[in-house]
Amino acid sequence: MKILPRLGHPNLGLGVGLRTAHFPYLIENQPRVDWFEIITENFMDSGGRPRYVLDRIAERYPIVMHGVALSIGSADPLDFDYLTKLRNLADGVKARWVSDHLCWTGVAGRNTHDLLPVPLNEQTLAHVVARIRTVQDFLERPLVLENPSSYVTFASSTMPEWEFLARMAAETDCGLLLDVNNVYVSSINHDFDPVEYVRAIPSRRVVQCHLAGHTDCGTHAIDTHDGEVISPVWELYRLAHRLTGGVSTLLEWDAKIPPFPVVHAEVLKARDYMDAVVKTPAVAAAPSRLTTRAGSVVVPHPLAHGMVEVS
Ligand SMILES: [Fe+2]
Repeated sequence: MKILPRLGHPNLGLGVGLRTAHFPYLIENQPRVDWFEIITENFMDSGGRPRYVLDRIAERYPIVMHGVALSIGSADPLDFDYLTKLRNLADGVKARWVSDHLCWTGVAGRNTHDLLPVPLNEQTLAHVVARIRTVQDFLERPLVLENPSSYVTFASSTMPEWEFLARMAAETDCGLLLDVNNVYVSSINHDFDPVEYVRAIPSRRVVQCHLAGHTDCGTHAIDTHDGEVISPVWELYRLAHRLTGGVSTLLEWDAKIPPFPVVHAEVLKARDYMDAVVKTPAVAAAPSRLTTRAGSVVVPHPLAHGMVEVS
């Protein structure tokens, strides 16, 4: 079967995560931005000003929805009330696509507000594949699922994450959201080669890329989304861009959020990494390249952007 690049989705260009801190600037200045990604759960139940602003922005810019509570890997039953709200929001803002993460976020109806990793084995793959098919049938559109950053692995895992994602996508025809910062963070925490990871992802199924900053804690890295993208992550992006031929790319900045022009300027740096020579050795080094120490640095919660407003 011939697979269309990006599963037929457009390359929207360089986008920015929509955050409430930037609402006044966006409404007043209407900057030239290719597209925005919203955190799905921040708008599913909201009316009032957040939804008013979102609707105004959706009139001018393409919108993509990015969720943090689908919990596709959970053992809990799928939440069809949640999925109904998700579908209604997607229709309301004419979302170009709907994404979430390969993870579980809770069990027994409790949401931990963390994107927790799944055991990477045949049993989990069959479980996740069946749930993706159900969700896609219900939403009447393909899901796009992101590789999470992770901090633990399971003794019961039998395959690398890139193999799990590739097989999951092949069996469900879902799209992939390749977060190159997450690949880098997890490569530090689990000591694998991030270049091997990116090369193993089926490039035509990649609908979107994420970029973000993270916190280097010396012995490990945390996906904090609180600063600029570091050069090894840009080099991974350069590789992903070459392999995919170019996909919609979005910068996530969710803690210590600077003014909008600073965030926008950061994602526009991606232009410097497109269509240039791939410098794979720069990102294939061992984790010993981490030389700094966290010290007294306050590390924001990786999901701080979703926690305040998610019920
Ligand atoms: Fe991400």
